[in-house]
Amino acid sequence: MGKKSIIVAIDGHSSCGKSTMAKSLARKVGYVYVDTGAMYRAVALFALRNSLLTPEGGVDEERLRRRMGEVEISFSLDPQTRMPRTMLCGEDVEAEIRTMEVSNLVSPVAALPFVREALTRQQQAMGLKKGIVMDGRDIGTAVFPDAELKIFVTASAEVRAQRRYDELKAKGQEVCFEEILQNVQERDYIDSHRELNPLRQAEDALVLDNSHMTMEEQDAWLMEKFNLRTQE
Ligand code: DC
Repeated sequence: MGKKSIIVAIDGHSSCGKSTMAKSLARKVGYVYVDTGAMYRAVALFALRNSLLTPEGGVDEERLRRRMGEVEISFSLDPQTRMPRTMLCGEDVEAEIRTMEVSNLVSPVAALPFVREALTRQQQAMGLKKGIVMDGRDIGTAVFPDAELKIFVTASAEVRAQRRYDELKAKGQEVCFEEILQNVQERDYIDSHRELNPLRQAEDALVLDNSHMTMEEQDAWLMEKFNLRTQE
């Protein structure tokens, strides 16, 4: 009997290793991987680059709304790593969307209903043929409420801040742990309290707290769930 092709929705708090496990699963089973956080980050970068900001440094909602039609997001496969790189209007912005400047603006941008509607539509189109692993905040609740496998990942804020700190340090960025912890906590708050499609666990999601798990352990956990769901 052939295995059925499914949609895997991976949601959870920021910096808890969702994308690492999502990428790893996609690579092993030959599925397409989509990082929806990268799409929200690309919109935030667009706002920054075009100075669509209020005098206080927040996002200028009206001006972004008027220019939203210009925001073209796509992914191109890196020939070496076989991993998707985020493109904004045809330009590779994979590194730039991971800076603190973008991280600080992305949650308010992701709370804007016209931004969520535009990106949700694109994400749904990407999943039409199934065979996809998508990670984000509202994949199992809003983008694909009928996804065959839904995972909700979480870990303590301190563990998550430490992981992001190590990641940025490894890339040579000057970072302060306290600032990162604050950013993680602020984003948790905004992501869980926004009006439209807040971060919440879908009723039928399997919960994974990976605070004390190694990467290998979480990969094995996910693979087992995937195998069970595709063999049903
Ligand atoms: O996963 P990440 O940290 O790259 O996500 C960046 C931001 O985008 C995060 O603050 C929450 C938001 N986001 C969202 O609102 N919905 C998604 N599906 C994915 C990300």
